[in-house]
Amino acid sequence: MALSKLPYRGTRDFFPEQMRLRNFIFSKMAEVSEIFSYEPYDGPLLEELDLYRAKSGEELINDQVYNFIDRGEREVAIRPEMTPTVARMVAQIHREVSKPLRWYAIPNLMRYEKPQKGRLREFWQYNADIFGAPEILGDIEIIQLAIAIMKSFGANNHHFEVLINSRHFVNYIFENILKIDAERTKKLYKLVDKRAKMPSDKFSTQAQAIILDSEKSRQFEEYAALNSIEDVIKFIRNTDNEIPKQIQPLINLFNGLEDLGLKQYIKFDPSIVRGLDYYTDVVFEIFDKHPDNLRAIAGGGAYANLLSIFGETPLPGIGFGLGEVPLTEFLKSHNLLPDFSKQKIDIVVAYLDTSAEKIVLEISQELRNQKIKVEVFLGEAKQKKIFSHTDKKQPHFVLMLGSDDITNGTGQLRNLKNKEIHNVSLNNVDNISKIILNSKT
Ligand code: HAM
Repeated sequence: MALSKLPYRGTRDFFPEQMRLRNFIFSKMAEVSEIFSYEPYDGPLLEELDLYRAKSGEELINDQVYNFIDRGEREVAIRPEMTPTVARMVAQIHREVSKPLRWYAIPNLMRYEKPQKGRLREFWQYNADIFGAPEILGDIEIIQLAIAIMKSFGANNHHFEVLINSRHFVNYIFENILKIDAERTKKLYKLVDKRAKMPSDKFSTQAQAIILDSEKSRQFEEYAALNSIEDVIKFIRNTDNEIPKQIQPLINLFNGLEDLGLKQYIKFDPSIVRGLDYYTDVVFEIFDKHPDNLRAIAGGGAYANLLSIFGETPLPGIGFGLGEVPLTEFLKSHNLLPDFSKQKIDIVVAYLDTSAEKIVLEISQELRNQKIKVEVFLGEAKQKKIFSHTDKKQPHFVLMLGSDDITNGTGQLRNLKNKEIHNVSLNNVDNISKIILNSKT
């Protein structure tokens, strides 16, 4: 039986058109990261499974990780996320380097998930993390960077929002106010997550069934309905008067982002708790506002103790992961993507007669030296065939040379966009390159 031509379920082949899109997305990510002075890094595709067992959480380990025993009997995993790798790398060098450390990467990751819109099994995920920043300044910068990346694609606050919560605030609600155990806390996490999709009476009944105390249930419902940082402050003042010390960073984060003119992008959201175990304080997700894909495009948060799994002293970090799969859906839905269907070629150079072959190759070489993108139409061809080729490829210019042109030392450079024809000298390639380069500016 013949083998399937299709890639493994949930993975993709990247043909040139898809590659152009991917390169476009990655180059924007890299460009903005560099502007924020983040440095690129990378790590291995395989890690020991224990690295994820330590802090990544049950869902990732039980349901999603691709793991196997290698030939040396070691339990290894294909990286399902980058944070444990970056923490491991930072643990090696953090004592010797000045802080904060600002790093970014765009690794491919694998998770055994049900492939669906916005979620695949192999995907690339932009990661940016800052380690060792003082207080809330790293949090502000990371969210500022996340917004800047989204804006670099032309997106604005009508297209996306950054939903923010804090694990400290969630713990304060569950431990200090509701005073419930870990098992029930988990169930309530899940319930808050579903709140937007269920009728409020059903939500109340389910909350009551878990909490088993009507006053506490009421408080929980009040928490789940908080809609802004002002609401959060009011809620705490009504319950406790004093803002607890561990919640102040959340408030400072909102103030800091507001001072940077980013208020319209950020919103407090009680349902953001995040599935990964290592987050300790601020957690956030970038959400698509398009009605067809109301889902997270990115997720991140602050982790104070991740280096401790390597026996290192704590070094607080904060970062986020932004997947190119949901980002592409987002950009498509909001019409923010350029057209990648055509390769960008400046000029096709062709010959109607083999006597012109040598000069065509020489001219092409000189044009390429000037960073002009040249496609040589290889082999002698009739005009009709060359035009049918340029109709498909749509280069900006075409230069077709025949034996007469070689005798006269001139040729016709055609601008296929505005239909202009330039008579050019073949002895002076500069006059050809100038026309092409001027047309780009
Ligand atoms: P995460 O929430 O698991 O966080 O993933 C972050 C983003 O990766 C998601 O919002 C989505 O864009 C993308 N993503 C996740 N799973 C898939 C999938 N199956 N297919 C396509 N895209 C996907 C983390 O991974 C954290 N390690 C992020 C982080 C970095 N936290 C701190 N630093």
